[in-house]
Amino acid sequence: MVETYSQNANRNMRRPIVNEEIVDFMRTSLAQNTGFLKDLEDFARQENIPIIPHETVAYFRLLMQTLQPKHILEIGTAIGYSALLMAENSPQSRISTIERNPEMLGLARENLAKFDSRKQISLLEGEAMELLPDLPDDHFDFVFMDSAKSKYIVFLPEVLKKVKVGGLIVIDDIFQGGDVAKDISEIHRGQRAIYRGLQKLFDATLDNPDLTASLISMSDGLLLLRKNVDQVDLEMTEF
Ligand SMILES: C[S@@+](CC[C@H](N)C(=O)[O-])C[C@H]1O[C@@H](n2cnc3c(N)ncnc32)[C@H](O)[C@@H]1O
Repeated sequence: MVETYSQNANRNMRRPIVNEEIVDFMRTSLAQNTGFLKDLEDFARQENIPIIPHETVAYFRLLMQTLQPKHILEIGTAIGYSALLMAENSPQSRISTIERNPEMLGLARENLAKFDSRKQISLLEGEAMELLPDLPDDHFDFVFMDSAKSKYIVFLPEVLKKVKVGGLIVIDDIFQGGDVAKDISEIHRGQRAIYRGLQKLFDATLDNPDLTASLISMSDGLLLLRKNVDQVDLEMTEF
């Protein structure tokens, strides 16, 4: 029994941002996982561990097979599901993935030992903000940020140093079940730190000429950012 997610799961993760029938259609009609990825997916669902949903799995397959990024950074490993999915679909990639939760680290270590057959994945254990500065600058072609939502804006300046010009950053769960489009007065008090963090992220990125941004209404929303210049000016507005 996994304890981390039984009590404190974020309810926004289960509020679809597009028509539920379309979500069901995407989840049932796109090619399903097989083998160990299916087993890991089933385990995560059973234990309430938040992993990327199936439509995002299919999108990542496509991205990985098309881009074949040489160096990938992931923030938020959980049990290693998305890291192993990326490794499976991009056999030449080297993946560094960061996780701080001891229970998740135990499961990730086990799963990587069993299923990372090409030894593509390095598990970096600890708090992302402490580990990021030690990673090489201008190194990564692809970054997947899937950790604490309020902290994306805190990690982003450091992440941008680590990404090559032309590299792609994918940030997960940015619509918070639609809350981001509402006024703060309508947001539950317990969700306001995430709301504020995401608004700062949008202010700094969506209309920034140093980046090319796209919002995709998939899962709970993906923000895609291309790094266009060496020194990205985030011009963060106070919120
Ligand atoms: C949504 S889960 C990751 C799921 C995984 N990407 C997948 O789809 O298979 C988010 C993970 O990020 C980790 N996390 C959150 N904030 C973090 C931080 N500041 N540093 C390191 N890990 C963090 C959590 O412990 C959690 O396991």
